[in-house]
Amino acid sequence: MTILTVTNQKGGVGKTALTFHLAYLFARDGVRTLLLDLDPQGNLSRSYLEDTPPEAHIRLLFENQMPEPYQVAPNLYLVGSDITLSKYEADAKLENFFRVRTFLQEMNPAYDIVLIDTPPSLGLFTSNALLASERVLIPVDISHYARIGLADLMESIEKVRETTGSRLSVLGIVFSAVRERLRFFQAFRRDLEQRYPGLPFRTFIPESVRVREAISRRQTVFEAFPRHKVTRAFEALYQEIKERLP
Ligand SMILES: Nc1ncnc2c1ncn2[C@@H]1O[C@H](COP(=O)(O)OP(=O)(O)OP(=O)(O)O)[C@@H](O)[C@H]1O
Ligand SMILES: [Mg+2]
Repeated sequence: MTILTVTNQKGGVGKTALTFHLAYLFARDGVRTLLLDLDPQGNLSRSYLEDTPPEAHIRLLFENQMPEPYQVAPNLYLVGSDITLSKYEADAKLENFFRVRTFLQEMNPAYDIVLIDTPPSLGLFTSNALLASERVLIPVDISHYARIGLADLMESIEKVRETTGSRLSVLGIVFSAVRERLRFFQAFRRDLEQRYPGLPFRTFIPESVRVREAISRRQTVFEAFPRHKVTRAFEALYQEIKERLP
């Protein structure tokens, strides 16, 4: 079972859209996929359902209960979230950092892959995800702040590794919603490649209103716009991601 967290403490960089599309692709290929929505905004959950069923709520972990993943599509299961999760955010007692890790260890049956979507912060919920994961996928936008934020995130990942002796490592950096003029983007990409050799993916996700349109219909671009450029980009990125997974 591979546990992959999609994270970046910067908001609106495409974490949820990426998780949503990767989940579709894994499930499409017959991979038993579990999604954990660790964001009290509940955006990922709402991409599938108006309301997460109470027994499938991630909040239960912080109430000493086991959520029951809810099937949202063939091969695809969700433990969802909404704003009611936020009441646990400030409860930073030690055991609360290991809720997701314990859940995934005790969960039955096992899944082939677990994808975890995180909120835009490095707080309790993102820590839970990192402490439970082996690999991290980092979507970035093309900005100066992205560079600074990425350094902070890399440091957090290093800290988790050092303090817990985990095998956590970065699977890769994804350029999402790229709309900058190509030359500027290429310079940014070269810079990140120098700082983090081998981490940036070759494929980038272009900005396209089709992504928003599809998600607002609770569909991926694969279902809504199968021949669009952004759809091909998600597919190519998925192939690259699979090459980096065991
Ligand atoms: N490639 C894209 N092109 C255009 N819009 C996109 C693209 N990817 C994501 N979006 C849109 O941009 C907005 C932010 O994306 P998303 O919610 O995935 O980011 P996020 O990092 O999860 O945000 P948050 O930090 O708030 O959780 C959403 O409205 C989403 O539909
Ligand atoms: Mg999100």
